[in-house]
Amino acid sequence: MRVLVTGGAGFIGSHLVEASLAQGFEVRVLDSLVTGHLANLAPFQKRIVLQKGDVRSLEDCDRAVRGCDTVFHLAALPSVQRSVEDPSGSHAVNCTGTVNILESARARGVRRVVYASSSSIYGDSPELPKREDQPPRPLSPYAASKLAGELYGRAFSASMGLEFVAMRFFNIFGPRQDPDSPYAAVVPIFIHALRTGKAPTIYGDGEQTRDFTYVTNVAEALLVAAQAPADKASGKVFNVACGGRTSLNTIYETLQSLSGTRLPAVYAAARTGDVRHSQADISAAKAALGWTPRVGLEEGLRLTLAAPAATA
Ligand SMILES: NC(=O)c1ccc[n+]([C@@H]2O[C@H](COP(=O)([O-])OP(=O)(O)OC[C@H]3O[C@@H](n4cnc5c(N)ncnc54)[C@H](O)[C@@H]3O)[C@@H](O)[C@H]2O)c1
Repeated sequence: MRVLVTGGAGFIGSHLVEASLAQGFEVRVLDSLVTGHLANLAPFQKRIVLQKGDVRSLEDCDRAVRGCDTVFHLAALPSVQRSVEDPSGSHAVNCTGTVNILESARARGVRRVVYASSSSIYGDSPELPKREDQPPRPLSPYAASKLAGELYGRAFSASMGLEFVAMRFFNIFGPRQDPDSPYAAVVPIFIHALRTGKAPTIYGDGEQTRDFTYVTNVAEALLVAAQAPADKASGKVFNVACGGRTSLNTIYETLQSLSGTRLPAVYAAARTGDVRHSQADISAAKAALGWTPRVGLEEGLRLTLAAPAATA
C-alpha cells in the first residue's frame, strides 16, 4: 500500500510514518515544516519520499496524492491559542487545506482519507465521557476548523464516494513532541522543566483532568482505520484516547517520581476557555475497528522520559 502522511514531519505524523513503514507500506510525506521538524524524520529519511509543500496549495496536494491509495491527513496548525490570535491563518491551513486534500484525493482516485480531528470540538459540555454522537460545541476557531474538516470529509464521502474516517484525538503525548513551541502541551513542558530544573507553571489548581494518550496508540488507531472494511469505518467518527481521566497534578507527580526529581510547580490563575474535565468513551473504536490502546499512561510517561529531548 502506498500512503501519504500530510504533516508527517510533525509529532504524531512522524510516529505514523514509523508505524506505516513497519507495516511495509510505501510512505510519502507532505509537510511545510512550519511546526514539524526534519529531525523527526531523520531515522526514516532514506525510506520515505518527502515533499516539502503546503496543503493550502491545491497543486502541492495534487502532486502529493498522486499514486497513493490512502491519505492520512494530519497537517494542521494544531493550537487553540494560535487560532484565537490568527483565526484566518488557522482557517486557511485547517479548512482550505483539508478541502484541497479531499479534492485532490477524489480527483486522483485515492481510496480512503483518514483525518486527524480533535476532542476540542466537544467544547465545554459537562457530559462525561464524551461520545461521538454528542452535539459538537466548538469554542475556538481551532475547534471550529477541525469540525469543518470532519463535515467536509463526510460530505465528500456522501456525495462523491470518497471513503473518509475522522479520528478525534484527545491529549496525545510522547517522544518528539515539541516543548519549545509557544503552544506546547503539558507533558513536554513538564518534562522539559524537570530536565532543566526550571519550575513549570500550572494554570488553575491543577485538578483539571484530561484523557492522556501515548502517541503509538494513535498511530495504531490510524492504521486500523485505514484498513477496516468500508461499512465499519467510512463516513464515521471515532474518539482516540485511553478512556481515563488524569489531573495535571497527578501527571506532574508521576513524572517527578519516575524521574526521581523534586521540583515544585508554580501555580497561576486559570486560563479563560480552558475546559475543566475531558474524558473519552472509546467503545465505538473498539467495536467497529477492533482497536484498543496498548500502552497505558504510566508506561507512556516512562517511555517519553526515556526518549531523547525533541530537537529542532
Ligand atoms: N497533539 C495532540 O494532542 C492533538 C490533539 C488533537 C488533534 N491533533 C491533531 O493531530 C494532528 C497532528 O498534530 P501534532 O500534535 O502532531 O502537531 P505538529 O505541529 O507536530 O504537526 C503538524 C504538522 O503539520 C505541518 N503543517 C502545518 N501547516 C502545514 C501546511 N500548511 N502545509 C503542510 N504541512 C503543514 C507541520 O509542519 C507539522 O509537521 C493535527 O491535525 C492536530 O490538529 C493533535
